[in-house]
Amino acid sequence: AAPPTSGPAAEGMTRRQLLRSSMFATIGAMFGLAAAGGGGMFWPIKLSGFGGIVPAPVKAHEMQVGDVVTVRDGKYYLTRSEDGLMALYWKCVHLGCTVPWNAAAGKFMCPCHASVYDITGQNIAGPAPRPLDMMEITVEPDGTVLVNTGKITERVRHEPEHA
Ligand code: FES
Repeated sequence: AAPPTSGPAAEGMTRRQLLRSSMFATIGAMFGLAAAGGGGMFWPIKLSGFGGIVPAPVKAHEMQVGDVVTVRDGKYYLTRSEDGLMALYWKCVHLGCTVPWNAAAGKFMCPCHASVYDITGQNIAGPAPRPLDMMEITVEPDGTVLVNTGKITERVRHEPEHA
């Protein structure tokens, strides 16, 4: 078959150009959305992980006295002591290292300068000038623990008591 020599070829070009321009328009719109709506795309993810009120991965009645659950999404420890449930922000109040829970010792022991905190976050040794910071929690009737990871509360200064 002979190649088209008139109208249809030109129309074909026009269609290809149209296709191409609409493709660019679509890509442009995607970039536009990403730029303009970037906050909308990423901020809620951040909010749900750190900075919002999020349910803890365990229910209140699943926690026994002495239990400590590490919650990486919100960067806190959920602890249960005789004083009840607490959500403790995991940064050392000395210079900000992450303080791991030492289950064997039953204490939070900072690897940086040896500050030690009990299960309620009370500073009991080392240079930490006050207890670990807390996050506000509420317990729903079904035991769901809601942690306000956006509200980190600094607690009052307390010097460790030396016997
Ligand atoms: Fe924890 Fe210094 S940062 S003791």
